Amino acid sequence: MFHKDLLQHKRILITGGGTGLGKGMASRFLELGATVYICGRREEVLKATADELKTNGPIHAIACDVRSLEAVERMIESIWKEGALDILVNNAAGNFIARTEELSPRAWESVINIVLMGTLHCTMACGRRWLAAKRSGTVLSISATYAPVGSAYVVPSAVSKAGVEALTRSLAVEWGNRGIRMNAIAPGPIPTQGAFSRLLPHSGLEAVALDRNPLHRFGTIEELANLAAFLVSDGSGYINGEVVRMDGGEFLQGAGEFSAVGRVLTDKDWESLRPRK
Ligand code: HXC
Ligand code: NAP
Repeated sequence: MFHKDLLQHKRILITGGGTGLGKGMASRFLELGATVYICGRREEVLKATADELKTNGPIHAIACDVRSLEAVERMIESIWKEGALDILVNNAAGNFIARTEELSPRAWESVINIVLMGTLHCTMACGRRWLAAKRSGTVLSISATYAPVGSAYVVPSAVSKAGVEALTRSLAVEWGNRGIRMNAIAPGPIPTQGAFSRLLPHSGLEAVALDRNPLHRFGTIEELANLAAFLVSDGSGYINGEVVRMDGGEFLQGAGEFSAVGRVLTDKDWESLRPRK
């Protein structure tokens, strides 16, 4: 799909890069010539991923909890000592389904601090350095399709992802004139252990999600990684402030007033509705 050197000489940090979609992006970016840094809370998970992917190219694992501004500053400073980053991917997240009235203050904080504050900490740490050095940079954040409309049962995530999208669009304008591009991807369901164990913890939920998708399948990590590679590459240099939805049409299926008609009407029904000649 891409030239092998698409991301050559690009230095990329992927938060939450030890598992799931982050690991998939790390793998693809390495294949395309990038130098990749991955961070997360669990050092052993990061090390195992770096070990697995190191044959694809240079990959560095750094244990860092993005909720902590100090920890993020330490990580970014240590990366910059080896050379400035070109690209930041805000991918780390926390999420679970719960009835909102049952959430404790710590439950709210646990999600908001990872998704919104973690994204802010990393974006500010990189953005300030790029601006000070008059260097260009690209930020890609991984959002969710429910960010612009909200969603029942994942409210801490919905409010956080909405904030991430507002940050993306705001800074695309404020920093765009100084060479910093800000974009996001809003994926529909893509099977990862982290997401599916917490959000679709029942086979009935998976069946409902498949059924309501026009393509009747989930997305793949490879599809997400390819879109991410395009959006962080120089070839997409005029795309700034966009949130690209990647969900097989699931969001629009839910929005269209008559989307469900096709499930009810049979061929015979359609035949009877055609004007008689
Ligand atoms: C209600 C819950 C809960 C649940 C945790 N809490 N899970 N409350 N229902 N299912 C509460 C706890 O009781 C505690 O509050 C507080 O949240 C913090 O919990 P901890 O376990 O101490 O927090 P921590 O170890 O920091 O873990 C954070 C986490 C966890 C978010 C709770 O799930 C996590 O580490 N997640 C990281 C990976 C992840 O979530 N990946 C999925 C991303 S998928 P009290 O008051 O009891 O102390 C995604 C989009 C999916 O985001 C879209 C799909 C289509
Ligand atoms: P995942 O495997 O659980 O990934 C989440 C990653 O974030 C983990 O590697 C986790 O590592 C890291 N993380 C969590 N808290 C952190 C913290 N405080 N500091 C640093 N790292 C932290 O789930 P995923 O499905 O790949 O999700 C990746 C991204 O895609 C998320 O932004 C998610 O919201 C988004 N998304 C996923 C789907 C889907 O269906 N899979 C759909 C829409 C959006 P540690 O636990 O080791 O810290």
